[in-house]
Amino acid sequence: MTKRVAIFVSGGGSNMRALVEDMTGDHPARPCVVVSNTADAGGIVWAKAQGIATVVVDHRPFGGDRPAFEAALSAALERHSPDMICLAGFMRKLTGGFTDVWAGRMINIHPSLLPKYKGLNTHARALEAGDTLHGCTVHEVTAALDDGPILGQASLKVAPDDTAETLAARVLTLEHRLYPAVLRRFAAGIRAPLFITG
Ligand code: GAR
Repeated sequence: MTKRVAIFVSGGGSNMRALVEDMTGDHPARPCVVVSNTADAGGIVWAKAQGIATVVVDHRPFGGDRPAFEAALSAALERHSPDMICLAGFMRKLTGGFTDVWAGRMINIHPSLLPKYKGLNTHARALEAGDTLHGCTVHEVTAALDDGPILGQASLKVAPDDTAETLAARVLTLEHRLYPAVLRRFAAGIRAPLFITG
C-alpha cells in the first residue's frame, strides 16, 4: 500500500522538493503534508503551490517546552494520518517522547558522513579536520541527535580549494540524489544501506 509521508522542514526545503518530485508514478509513497516550525520557510510556499497540505507549528510560543511543542506537532499530524516522517532540514531537536512514537518510521538527512560531525557546521568541521572525503547521510531517527541506523550515504572528494560554502553546495546536490533514492527503498521496506559516490 502507498505510504503517506509527512515532510518536516525549517528552511528552503530543497530536499523536501527533491522528495516530492520523486514521489510520482510507481513510487511506493506520496507526500501527505509538509510541516514547518517557521511560517517563513521557503519550503512551505513551494509545497502550497503544489497543492500539498501544509502546517506551521511555531516552536517559539512553547519556549523550552519541547514536549508541548511536540504535542502540537502530533495533533497537526493526526489530521493527515501519515505512515512515516521525513525530516528534511528540520532544525529542532526532537525528544524521545516523539521519536519513540515514530521509531522505525522517521528518517532524516544530515550533511556529513555520520558518525562524523553530528550537529551543526559540518562542512567547516570536515575542512578543519583535513578530510579528503565528505558527504551526507540518511538515517533512522532515534532520541540521540543525528544517530540511528544508517540507511544511505553519498560521498564526494574534497577539493583543495573547497570552502565551507562550496562544500555545502556540492553536498546539497548529492543530498538531492541520496534522499529520494533512500526514501524509495525505505517506503518499499528495504533497510540495507545504499552507498553513492559523487
Ligand atoms: C540540508 O543540508 C540538510 O542536510 C541540513 O539542512 C539543510 C537543509 O536544506 N540538515 C541538517 O543539518 C539537520 N541536522 P534544504 O532546506 O534546502 O533541504
